[in-house]
Order: sequence, then structure tokens, then C-alpha cells
Amino acid sequence: GTGWPGVVLAYRDRVAVPGDVVVTLHEGNTPLVPARHLSDLTGCQVYLKVEGANPTGSFKDRGMTAAITAAVAEGSRAVICASTGNTSASAAAYAARAGLTSAVLVPRGKIALGKLAQAVAHGARILQVDGNFDDCLELARKTAAEHPVTLVNSVNPVRIEGQKTAAFEICDVLGRAPDVHCLPVGNAGNITAYWRGYREYAADGVVDGAPRMFGFQAEGAAPLVHGQPVADPETIATAIRIGSPASWAGAVTARDESDGLFHAVSDEDILAAYRLLAGREGVFVEPASAASVAGLLATAADGRLPAGSLVVCTVTGHGLKDPDTALLGMPEVEPLPVDPGAVAGALELV
Ligand code: F0G
Repeated sequence: GTGWPGVVLAYRDRVAVPGDVVVTLHEGNTPLVPARHLSDLTGCQVYLKVEGANPTGSFKDRGMTAAITAAVAEGSRAVICASTGNTSASAAAYAARAGLTSAVLVPRGKIALGKLAQAVAHGARILQVDGNFDDCLELARKTAAEHPVTLVNSVNPVRIEGQKTAAFEICDVLGRAPDVHCLPVGNAGNITAYWRGYREYAADGVVDGAPRMFGFQAEGAAPLVHGQPVADPETIATAIRIGSPASWAGAVTARDESDGLFHAVSDEDILAAYRLLAGREGVFVEPASAASVAGLLATAADGRLPAGSLVVCTVTGHGLKDPDTALLGMPEVEPLPVDPGAVAGALELV
């Protein structure tokens, strides 16, 4: 064989996807990395599920292999999605691989540069909408309802089937379920998918129990925390700049059935966690991903995260997605002459 076959084939008996020919980029099997510094800070055993290691750099590939496989099986020729950037990058890549046309609706000026570059590279029809993600999703749903194009947002149930495999992988590697699972939450498909995966493994006796699900949102885009939609969501973490999550009910079920919680983190705390992950753990993620770690630190500090817990934080997307945030505040510097003395001087070695 050719090694890891991708999530649909790796979990063939557990993932319900129509179609015999699986469209895959061999996504999944991502690293579960022990986080020593975060473990020291929290008194817990913390692991990072590094989803930026997927083929297009985010967890969306797990759901997109399933969604595009199903679209091909149904005879679809075109797919459409609304996106804050990662879904569109993934849809564009898998559609290109399958020979389908893709159209992506993105909020104008509010998607990170790398994600836009991916959609361009894979040949998507890119429609920048003068509105936010919630507006884009409504447009995508209406278009798919009235025209022969398949909607591949996570409101398409087959996406959730693919994404739940991350929970399987974590249990397979740890040999048990974690005590707590931390996730950034935007449209809430992913927390819905993880909870389905954990529950299925527990129900089938593969592992003993399921983790408490901790969902974190950005303060300016925290509808689940406040219990009502947010009309004008705002956050530096553009991936989760969402005011009206489509999988609201799934997220609430995950929280309630798991004895979990929702909590809002500030942009400042998101950026601090973002820098800590890159600077101390060596894991470069995009800002939205750092919301899970900002939330980990907040709940450790306020006593809601029990010391000694086995915790997994999903870091959902790669840092290269958003170079602008990485370069925020970088000073302009004069280039050096080709001179060893200048290098030693600049590095304060002399
Ligand atoms: N982290 C990243 C990097 C994301 O791109 C998203 C969602 C989330 C977290 C939240 O996941 O929506 O399942 O709760 N991105 C979507 C997109 C909305 O269009 O790429 P969720």
C-alpha cells in the first residue's frame, strides 16, 4: 500500500459516506504532541492535536474528503461553500482533485492571506461578499437549494462524519479518552463532530468514557457563551468570526452531555496563546486555533480545569495561513552588508 489511506478508508466501518471511489489527499493521522510548557503552566498533562498538519493546513480536510466523495457519488459537477477561509481552501483542493467546479463565498477583507491564496491556486470561483460569514452561509444555502450545486459546509451531515475521526485518532494514540477536550468554536461543526466521535467510541466500548468538551469563542464573536446570536461579530481570529453558528444545537448537546462548558477569550489572550505556542512549544498555528489554548489557560486559572487532567487541545489550522498576524509589529530593519563582523555585531556576539 501507500501508507495511511486517509480518514474515510482508515475508519471505513465507522464513517458513513456514500461512494466507492474515495476522493482523498490522505488527510488525518495528524500528530498528537505533548506540550511540556502548557503542562507545567496548568498542572495537567496537555497534548496538542496538530490539525495544521493536514494536506491543506486545517482540520477541514477530514470533512471535505467525505463531502467531495459523496458529491461525486451523487453525480454532482459543482460544489459551493461559505467560508472564513479554511473550508474554502479545502473545498477548492478536493474539488480540483475530483474534477469538480468549486465556488466559494467569503467575507470581503476578512479572510487570511494564505487561505485566499489556496483558493486561487486550486482554481475556485471566488466571490467576495460585502457581508460577514453568516451572510455568506445564507447565500450559499439559498444558491444550493435552487441550483444544481452541492453545499459542502458542515450543515452537510457527511462533513461531520469525516471530522469525527479526529476523536478516534486521539483515543487510538492515547489508549483512552482524554478527561477534557478543548476546541475553538465558530460555526460549531467541529465540536459537534468530536462529540459524535467520542460518544461512538465509548458506546462501542473501544474506550471507557468520553471527555468533557470545553468550547472557546472569541469575546467579540461568542454567541454560544452569551446564549444568543451576535449581529456584528468581530475578532482578530477571523476563522471564528461567526455570529450565528449553524451547528448551535450540536454544540449545546456536546457541552450538556459531557458536563462541559463554553467560555469567551479576549483577542489579547488569543494572541498571547498564539505567541506562547509558537515561541515555547514550537507549534505555529493560526489565531483561531490559539483560542483553545487561551481557554485552557483561563479555565486552569479560574479553577474549572481540574489539576492532573489529561487534556487535548485541538489546534485547528496552520500558522502559515495568516502571515499578516505573524508579522504584526515586526520592525523595519536595514539589511546587513556581506560581512561576518556585521553579523556577529547584530547578534551581539562581540
Ligand atoms: N479553527 C479554524 C482554524 C477554523 O477555520 C474554524 C472554522 C474553526 C476553528 C471553528 O470550527 O466552525 O467547526 O466551529 N472555520 C470555518 C471556515 C468557519 O469557513 O473555514 P467550527
